[in-house]
Amino acid sequence: MEKLLVTPAVIAHKRVFLRADLNVPLALAGASIVDDHRLQALVPTLRLLVQNAACVVIATHLGKPDPSQPDEALSTKHLLPWLKKNHFTVSFATSPAHARALIARGDSLILLENLRFFKGEQEPSTTFAAELATLADVYVNDAFGTLHRSDASIALLPLYFPREKRFYGYCIAQEIKALTALRKAPGKPFVALIGGNKIATKLPLIEQLITAPPTARVTQVLLGGLLGLDLESSAPDLPKLAREKGVSLLKPVDYLKSAPALPPLTGRRSGLKPCISTSSGGAKSVSYPIDIGPQTIALFTPCLAKAQTIFANGTMGKYEEKAGQAGTNAMLAIIGNNAGFTVIGGGDCGAAAAQCGVAEKVSFVSTGGGATLAFIASNEPWHDLPGLKALITVA
Ligand code: 3PG
Repeated sequence: MEKLLVTPAVIAHKRVFLRADLNVPLALAGASIVDDHRLQALVPTLRLLVQNAACVVIATHLGKPDPSQPDEALSTKHLLPWLKKNHFTVSFATSPAHARALIARGDSLILLENLRFFKGEQEPSTTFAAELATLADVYVNDAFGTLHRSDASIALLPLYFPREKRFYGYCIAQEIKALTALRKAPGKPFVALIGGNKIATKLPLIEQLITAPPTARVTQVLLGGLLGLDLESSAPDLPKLAREKGVSLLKPVDYLKSAPALPPLTGRRSGLKPCISTSSGGAKSVSYPIDIGPQTIALFTPCLAKAQTIFANGTMGKYEEKAGQAGTNAMLAIIGNNAGFTVIGGGDCGAAAAQCGVAEKVSFVSTGGGATLAFIASNEPWHDLPGLKALITVA
């Protein structure tokens, strides 16, 4: 598939639609970028396009906004200061029509508003894809972290370009190289440490890791985050499947609880079940599991220390809060000291690795989360990941 890698000859002086994954963690209502790994990963492709006088529309999603009520805090305009600081002269388009007007005006680097502010992106709608297609002659996908989604800009838009005008960028090329090594012949024991809260996305992929052909099969799965908490209700059959395939599956044996005074959790952690305790006087207090506990850390530590290959995805606790960081940090410290092949995937887990100084110590930090898991778990990623399939499908 090397011939799909973008080269100067195919993009020089052309209009290019660059699908990026700049879904970066933001704080302070969008005003501050917590981790810029995904932005950094786009720079080589962006530079190639700019240096070869392409007219580029950069498009990404950011979070999961409701298109009927787009949340300003998730506008991609919050990425403009980073791009400007990194010497990209970029204008901002609030819609595809606005981008078309800016191209006509002669602007050569345009950042489009959050693709998920438009309802056609996640529907996904061919009308929206056709509208995006009018902006460019060449399609370049460098959004590795979104290749597992069927959003219009990922799975439909490429089909509006002739097969020889669709490419992937340097970020995807690097990911494919590193993750293919992990997928094909992982050294054993191969341990997957999976946390986070995207249960629906991750469970089928964990099943694939467990049922992979023996050479590629994971030896042990350690579950944290919501996955560990909800195993009985979300995947009651997973432990049996793991046993049948000879895979050890461990879930947390204890949790840290948040202070009872915390307000009820909303948004990303709203799935957490409260722990209600009653004092001897009969007063009830409510707390929430916020992280894995010390016994779980002690249980998982030797598994990670002995592994030859580690894939870590998702955080163990509610990492956004200081009180929820200890479990993830402890796991990352062990992974950082492991001399085997170690891969960290996922925006949150990657950000945590950067924050605690482990990112430089591991073999590879993937820009993807669910996409990385999907790539590793699949026997045929070019068929199973909609974003890769769309690059090679004959329209
Ligand atoms: C990610 O952060 O994993 C990717 O950007 C995909 O985001 P999504 O899970 O909201 O589709």
